[in-house]
Amino acid sequence: MCGIIGYCGKEEAAPYLLKGLYSLEYRGYDSAGLCVFAPQGMLTVKTAGRVADLQQKWDALPERPFARCGIGHTRWATDGAPTEKNAHPHRVGSVSIVHNGIIENSGALRVELQKKGYVFVSQTDTEVLAALLDEGYQAVGNIPAAIRYAESRVTGSFAVAAMFEPEKDTVWAFRKESPLIAATAPNGNFLASDIFAVSRYTSQYYPLQEEEIAVLRPDGLSFLQKDGTPLEKDPVSILTDSRQAEKGAFPHHMLKEIFDAPDAIRETVAAYLRDGLPSLSLLDPKGFLRRAKRLFIVACGTALNAGKIGKFYFEKLAGLSTYCAIASEFRYDSPILQDGDHFLFITQSGETADTLAAMRMVRGMGFSATALVNTPNSTAVNLADSVLYTRAGPEIAVASTKAYVAQCSLLYLVANAVALYREKINAVAVRENVHALYHDAPICIANLLADREAVRAISQKYCEAPSCFFIGRGLDYSLAEESSLKCKEISYIHCEAYPAGELKHGTIALIEENTLVVAIVSGEMVREKTFSNIREVRARGGKVLLVTDRHAETQVADDLYIVPAKKLFPVCAAVFFQLFAYYGALLRGCDVDKPRNLAKSVTVE
Ligand code: AGP
Repeated sequence: MCGIIGYCGKEEAAPYLLKGLYSLEYRGYDSAGLCVFAPQGMLTVKTAGRVADLQQKWDALPERPFARCGIGHTRWATDGAPTEKNAHPHRVGSVSIVHNGIIENSGALRVELQKKGYVFVSQTDTEVLAALLDEGYQAVGNIPAAIRYAESRVTGSFAVAAMFEPEKDTVWAFRKESPLIAATAPNGNFLASDIFAVSRYTSQYYPLQEEEIAVLRPDGLSFLQKDGTPLEKDPVSILTDSRQAEKGAFPHHMLKEIFDAPDAIRETVAAYLRDGLPSLSLLDPKGFLRRAKRLFIVACGTALNAGKIGKFYFEKLAGLSTYCAIASEFRYDSPILQDGDHFLFITQSGETADTLAAMRMVRGMGFSATALVNTPNSTAVNLADSVLYTRAGPEIAVASTKAYVAQCSLLYLVANAVALYREKINAVAVRENVHALYHDAPICIANLLADREAVRAISQKYCEAPSCFFIGRGLDYSLAEESSLKCKEISYIHCEAYPAGELKHGTIALIEENTLVVAIVSGEMVREKTFSNIREVRARGGKVLLVTDRHAETQVADDLYIVPAKKLFPVCAAVFFQLFAYYGALLRGCDVDKPRNLAKSVTVE
C-alpha cells in the first residue's frame, strides 16, 4: 500500500526522501514521486515505476537546487492507472500533496470544483483533495482552516502530507484512518507512513492521531489541534530494532523471515509463560476470552487463515464455539450477535482497513475486541480493548510467513490457557502442549529449514504446473487454504484449496493428466479417507504430492514429504509450504519480496 515520506531540516531533502521511499517499498506500489521546496518554487519529479527510476530521474536533472524541505510518495494504484500522471505528489494551485487512502466522494467533488474553474490532469482522488486544500487556503489564507475545510468536504480515508507555496519550507500533515507518524532527529524532522522509514535516525516517534496536525519546519516539529491551537504530544519509543527489518546475508526478506520462524515462536510464547504455563493475566487481563460464550475471529488473508487454525484449537481444546469471518464481508453481513460474544481481530500490520473497519463496527455495537497484532503502536492496538502481541519482529516481505507461524502459535497458547481455565484439560496436559509448542515445534522447523534443498527439489519438479489443488480435511484443509494463498501470491500459479472429501462432488471433473494436487494429511482420524481421495485423483491422471506428519507408503503418492510434528503440524508444515512457494516463485522468475499487484498492508478498503 502507498507510502508517505516528508523531511524538513538543515540538510538537502531529496536524499532523505529517496531513502525513506526505499524503506517503504515493501508496502507495495507501482509509481513514485517527490516534491521539494526549491528557492525558485516547488519542484516535482515523478515516475511510473520503481524508486530507483525516480532516483535516476532526479539525478538526471540538469540542475538540482538545494532544497531542505520536501515530500515523497510510493503509490499503489486505486483511483486511476499506475501512470506518471497519476503518481503523487499532485500540485493544484498553491498546494502540493501526497495522500494514502481513498476519497470516496471524489467524483462529485471533482465536478463541483471543475465548475469553479479547477482543471484536473490526473484520474486520482488525490488531485481533488489538493484542489479542496487550495480552495480552502485561497478563501481564508490560513492553513489549519484550509485543512479543516478539506476534511469537512470529503468522506473516506486519508493520510496527507502537504506543502503550501506561500508557507516556505514547511510540511503539514493530517490523517483519518490511514496511519502517519512524525519524528525528530539530529539530522532533521520527518513524516512517514510507518516507523521503518525513520528508525535509522531516531528511537522515538509521534503517532499522529485523527484531528491533529503535524507541522515540520527545518528548525523543528510541532503539533496543532484541529482548530490550530498548539498541541503537546509525548513521543513513543520504537520497539523494534530496524536491523531486524534488514535481510542481512539472505537473498530475500521472505527467506530471512521464514528462517525467523523458530525464534518467532519462542519469542511470542515466552512472553506469556509463567512457571511453564500460559498466563491468563498476561494473555487475557480483562477476562474477555475467559468470559466469552462465543468467539468471533475476524481478519483478512493469511491472518484469517491463522484464525481458522485458531478456531480448531479453541473448539477442540477449550470447547469454545468459534466463528471465523472475512473482515471485508463481516462488516456488511449484519451479523446476528448476542451477549457474551467476544471478537478477536488478527492483523500482522495492525493497519488493514477492512479489519479495522470491522473492529470499529463491533466496538460501536458495544462488543469487546481483542487485537492479535505483530506491529506495536499500530491503529489496531489503539482501537482494541485488549491486545495480544506476536513477537515475530518486523515482517517486510509482502507474503506473510513468520507472522502466520507466530499467530498460529499464540492462538494455540491462548486456547490452552482458556481450556485450562474452563477445566477442559488439566495443567499436566497444558504443560505437554506448551512443551510441544515452545521446544518441539521450533526444532521441527529448524530441521525442515536444514532440509530446504529437498523442498527446493520438489518445488522445482512442480513449479511449472499451470494450476494446483491443495486438499485436506479439518485442520489440514485450513492449512491447505494458507498454502494455496502463499503459492498464488508469489508464484502467480492459479491454486485452489479444496476440502478433500468435497472433490468428488464436482471439482474432480477438473482433474486430468498431470493436474497437480497437494494433499495435506495429519493425524489418524481422517488419514485413510484422504488417502482414498488421493487414489481417486491419481486414478484420473493427477499428480499428487503428499505432505504428512508420519510415515506413509511411498507409492501412495507421486511425491511424499514428512513433517514429523507431534502436536503442531499446521505450525511446522506451514514452513514447508512457505519454502515450496518461495522456491517455486524464484524458479518462475517472480519478485519474491514484492509480488505484482500486492501490498504488505492493505490500508484501503
Ligand atoms: C499474506 O501473505 C498477504 N500478504 C495478505 O493476505 C495479508 O495476510 C492480509 O492482507 C492481512 O494483512 P494483516 O495481517 O496485516 O492484517
